Amino acid sequence: MHSHRKLQPPSVVNIEDLRRLAKRRLPQVIWDYLEGGAEDEVTLRRNRAAFDRYHLLPRMVTGKGSRDLSITLFGQRLAAPFMIGPTGLNGIYVPDADLMLARAAAAAGVAFSLSAGSNNDIEAVARASAGPKFFQLYPWGGREVATRLLARAHTAGYCALMVTVDSLIPGNRERDVRNRFAHALHFSPRIVWDAATHPRWVVSTWFARGMPRFENLAEFLPPGSDAYALAAYTRAQRNPFYSWEDVAWLRSQWAGPLVVKGILTADDTRLAASHGADAVVVSNHGGRSLDGLPATLDMLPSVAAAAGGMPVLVDSGFRRGSDIVKALALGARGVLLGRAPLYGVAAAGEAGASRALEILLQETDRVMGLLGVDSVDALGHQHVGLQPA
Ligand SMILES: Cc1cc2nc3c(=O)[nH]c(=O)nc-3n(C[C@H](O)[C@H](O)[C@H](O)COP(=O)(O)O)c2cc1C
Repeated sequence: MHSHRKLQPPSVVNIEDLRRLAKRRLPQVIWDYLEGGAEDEVTLRRNRAAFDRYHLLPRMVTGKGSRDLSITLFGQRLAAPFMIGPTGLNGIYVPDADLMLARAAAAAGVAFSLSAGSNNDIEAVARASAGPKFFQLYPWGGREVATRLLARAHTAGYCALMVTVDSLIPGNRERDVRNRFAHALHFSPRIVWDAATHPRWVVSTWFARGMPRFENLAEFLPPGSDAYALAAYTRAQRNPFYSWEDVAWLRSQWAGPLVVKGILTADDTRLAASHGADAVVVSNHGGRSLDGLPATLDMLPSVAAAAGGMPVLVDSGFRRGSDIVKALALGARGVLLGRAPLYGVAAAGEAGASRALEILLQETDRVMGLLGVDSVDALGHQHVGLQPA
């Protein structure tokens, strides 16, 4: 792990620097799981390219010397217009990564989303962080599993439920297919060599804990079931028949705010609202589900228009404060971060996760200042334009 000093300039100036450190520490097979997208990775590249197509339009010398980056979401004040989004299998980068990310989020005053496929369970994360927490659920088949996880999330104090609707069928991530990485490591000679050439990861992660388990699901299998049995169990839970009626059923089971994650069109935004959603996340799953999907930034204005007053969140490809500001100007209430904090935690544990959030806070603040804007609410369409081709 890197010392705090090594996470500061000149070594670490931006998210790309944390990405480089993470890539160096992780074996290629783990890096491919973190970084990869589906098939030709067209959507993955589109996510980043879209930010370059929008330019920023400032107002000069507005006399506004300080900024307030906070937003209100579901009646809660959050320190920044971004939060940590849900990602599964975080324990493969470093043991207890979910706890580290949750603590880093709480320290920064931003919300944390726990994936149903986390490696620290709902209760352990709640004990580690008193900050605002969302619980993300995959549309699993067995309603008894959903009922039980919802009850646990409610008891543990998670403030919102997020249901991810864009991956009823798993995306075809060919890097993982080639590496035979299906939430399990297959020990071919190549992978043994890969591990041997990344001793820091082997010692701190693999020797320390082995393959991390999907702890939230452990109660549904016999005690002592291993990571592979739990991974097989989650695969068996997949339900390609999931429908809006099932979303409405979830709505009836959860008293707090319900967020539908993985929406790209105005029509689906209206359907989400009419089936009880309190917010949507415009997402293409970071390019990991269907290759060929558009960049989320391009779909955001039409979703925001269809949402009426419903808050719209967005993710996929955010690596800069200016990316975040562009999305806010195009109608998002907030941004979910996927890989950006993962680079931090994979590079340097909790200190790395905190550094990722700090970088994005500073960048967002500076960009707003340069735009002549003193609050998130003041951002609007007047601050962005499409770059002529
Ligand atoms: C390694 C990894 C695991 C993910 N696991 C989940 C998950 O368990 N549940 C979920 O809803 N989304 C998951 N996602 C998608 C993220 O929530 C988010 O939509 C995406 O990462 C945003 O793109 P970005 O990584 O470019 O920021 C995962 C993404 C990554 C990179």
